[in-house]
Amino acid sequence: MSESFSNVYADRERADAYAQLEFPGTYFLAFRDLPTLIRKHVSGRIALDFGCGTGRSTRFLRDLGFDVLGVDIAAEMLERARRQDPVGRYELVDEGDLSRLPMRSFDLILAAFTFDNIPTLERKQDLLTALSSLLPPTGRFVNLVSDPAIYLHEWASFSTRDFPANRLARSGDRVRIIMLDVPDKRPVEDVVCPDADYRRMYARAGLLVHEMHQPLGRPDDGSNPYVRCQGWRGELVSNLLAHKIC
Ligand SMILES: C[S@@+](CC[C@H](N)C(=O)[O-])C[C@H]1O[C@@H](n2cnc3c(N)ncnc32)[C@H](O)[C@@H]1O
Repeated sequence: MSESFSNVYADRERADAYAQLEFPGTYFLAFRDLPTLIRKHVSGRIALDFGCGTGRSTRFLRDLGFDVLGVDIAAEMLERARRQDPVGRYELVDEGDLSRLPMRSFDLILAAFTFDNIPTLERKQDLLTALSSLLPPTGRFVNLVSDPAIYLHEWASFSTRDFPANRLARSGDRVRIIMLDVPDKRPVEDVVCPDADYRRMYARAGLLVHEMHQPLGRPDDGSNPYVRCQGWRGELVSNLLAHKIC
C-alpha cells in the first residue's frame, strides 16, 4: 500500500453526506449489540470516540450516558459534528498523534469504522498501541470494523459490483465500495484487514480480546424492509460487521 492513500472523509461533500447518515438500511445492525456489550464490560463513564466523523458515534455514546470526547483528523467532518451538536466536545488530532490526550484516562474507547480507513498494518499497529496507552487497566476498546466479505457482495446498504478488483484484495490492499444510503455515490476507499491480523495487532498492543460479534439480521427484524427482503431470498441478511471489545 502506497503512502498516497487519502482519507476520503477529508472532503466537504462527503462530510455533508455523512452528516445526514444516522442508522438507515442495515446500519443499525452494526450498533445494535453495542449497548449490551458496553453494559457488560465497561465500568466508568469517560469515553473517547476515535474517528468520530460527523459525531454520529459520539452522540450514540452520549445517549448511553458517557461523557465523551470525539476526535478526528478530518476538519470537514468535525465542522459538521459541531454544527449538528454544539454542546458536544470534538477535537481535531494530527494523524497518528494522540499525545495530547491524557494517558490511562478513558473507560471506553470506541472506533466506529475508523480502522477501515487506516492504511498499512504498521499505521494500524501504531494507533492501536497509542490507544491502548490511553486505557487504564479496567478500560475497554471497542473496534467496529467492516468484515472483508462486505467488499465482495451486494448488500442492502452497500454495493461493490463495479469493483471486481476487490476480489483479488489481500490484507492491506485498497478496496472500493459505494454507500447506498447517502446522496454522495462516489466510492469510498477502504483497506482490507482480516480478523486474524487485527488479533495479532491487539496482542502486540497489549490488548486482550474479550468478545467478538458479527451481527446479522434476525427474524424479528422483519419490519425493516431491507432485512426482510434479503431474508426472503435466503441470503445473508445484512452487511457483516464485526465489533470487538479488547
Ligand atoms: C467511516 S467514518 C466513521 C465516523 C463515525 N465513527 C461514525 O460511525 O459515524 C471514519 C472516520 O475516521 C476518521 N479517521 C481516519 N483515520 C483517522 C486517524 N488516523 N485518526 C483519527 N480519525 C481518523 C475519518 O476522518 C472519518 O471521519
